[in-house]
Amino acid sequence: MRNEPSFVYNAPARAFHWLTALLLLIQYVLAWTMPDVHRDTKPVGLIAWHLGVGMVIVLLLVVRLVWRGVHGAPPEPDTLPSALRTLARFTHALLYALLIAVPLMGWANASSRDWSVTLLGVPMPPLSRAGSSIGHALGDWHRNFAWVLLALVGLHVAAALFHQFVLGDGTLRRMLPAHGDRARSEQ
Ligand code: HEM
Ligand code: HEM
Repeated sequence: MRNEPSFVYNAPARAFHWLTALLLLIQYVLAWTMPDVHRDTKPVGLIAWHLGVGMVIVLLLVVRLVWRGVHGAPPEPDTLPSALRTLARFTHALLYALLIAVPLMGWANASSRDWSVTLLGVPMPPLSRAGSSIGHALGDWHRNFAWVLLALVGLHVAAALFHQFVLGDGTLRRMLPAHGDRARSEQ
């Protein structure tokens, strides 16, 4: 019990994790409710929200990766078979890669439509030329890889539930405001 805090992600890492999950949920709802994007579509209303929330996800991910680079992650309990540990690490790395690649593709597509993209109101540079065929194609990639990201999140959540309800090994608590925090403040 005394050593437990060291197995729990620190508070900022947990905040980044759950904020990303929340923004991603909002982002998919926006994507599926916004009007279809055609040649003459203007980036207003729900589409503008989709671009805006997507850019905040990019910012959050950059800050999160810097934080992780500086502070690292808590040690993994050695109860997990090494194959599963490798699978978990691989899935997490892929989640990070897609969390950066999917919005960048959307950004490039928006630029190819000559839409201005802003981050919290600050104009961002275009990622492709207006009318660019690559930027156009990246719109399809953006949509397809958003499905891959969603499938991977599904796998990740299923794994978390498997840990919690089948293995009962406390993995979920690594991402929750755990007793560990209280234990630490009481010490
Ligand atoms: C992780 C973040 C993001 C996710 C999960 C996401 C998800 C999606 C999904 C699922 C669609 C398809 C909607 C449909 O089928 O009708 C879509 C379309 C689109 N998104 Fe995103 N998006 C993200 C970030 C962004 C960003 C940052 C931008 C631009 C700055 C953007 C721009 C677009 C555009 C322009 C489309 C229409 C593409 C087309 O139909 O050619 N997205 N997005
Ligand atoms: C109900 C939803 C979710 C649950 C229950 C959950 C649970 C967890 C847990 C327990 C961990 C720690 C695993 C460990 O270190 O052993 C974790 C890590 C992680 N989660 Fe989630 N998660 C959820 C949603 C998401 C979403 C939506 C994303 C982003 C797409 C995400 C991305 C990650 C990443 C990248 C890590 C690795 C953190 C690191 O070591 O840097 N999770 N999650």
